[in-house]
Amino acid sequence: MYTIAVTNQKGGVGKTTIAMQVAAAMSRRHRVLLIDTDPQRSTQWWADNVPRPLPFDYAGPQQASVIARLPLLQVEYDFVFVDTPGSFEETRTLDLVLDAADFALVPMTPEPLAVEPTMRTIHRLIEPRGLRYAVVLNKLDPRTPHQWDVWMHRLDTDWGYPRTAETLRRYKAHADAPILGELVTAMPTNPRTAGLIGEVTRLAVEVGTHVAAISGTW
Ligand SMILES: Nc1ncnc2c1ncn2[C@@H]1O[C@H](COP(=O)(O)OP(=O)(O)O)[C@@H](O)[C@H]1O
Ligand SMILES: [Mg+2]
Repeated sequence: MYTIAVTNQKGGVGKTTIAMQVAAAMSRRHRVLLIDTDPQRSTQWWADNVPRPLPFDYAGPQQASVIARLPLLQVEYDFVFVDTPGSFEETRTLDLVLDAADFALVPMTPEPLAVEPTMRTIHRLIEPRGLRYAVVLNKLDPRTPHQWDVWMHRLDTDWGYPRTAETLRRYKAHADAPILGELVTAMPTNPRTAGLIGEVTRLAVEVGTHVAAISGTW
């Protein structure tokens, strides 16, 4: 069982979106549990709109201390995703979650205001634990010239942060998914959704492979 914390102290970067959609994509092949530790209850609202059954087991919103007890659960999961709060006040929650995590997935948007909180999350919470992590760039706008190149250069060369090869573009279908109760596993494939489904699916495969490889056994 591998526990993946989806975390960034900056709000609005896509933690909830990525936790829900990547957990869904991963559930095609694996036993997946998603736990929400964010008092804002975003996943609960989304999950309530999804026609039953959900493709993964879902526990939300939980005290973060539940995460520490996960190994005691009799049920066995391949991957446990933990959605986390996006604020600087919830450090106790983040401490508990990151102590229990095998890997941190750090969504980041290509915006100057996301830089400092992302760096702070990595330098103060993730790196001191020796926790493996990868930044995933979210909400890229293909119409903005050179955006991909500029941000990849920052991540790879200026900051040297590990990142996923896959990036996620900004799609209206992502923004609509919580109210429509949509997860990639049950979205119709059409021009509105095809790009999004492909990106999330590739990201899930990449994260699964990566986490299994760094953890040694599979
Ligand atoms: N790739 C994307 N394209 C379009 N909208 C997105 C994308 N990722 C996230 N969003 C939207 O941006 C907002 C913030 O995303 P959310 O996942 O709630 O971030 P966080 O959990 O980090 O606060 C939400 O309204 C969400 O639907
Ligand atoms: Mg959220």
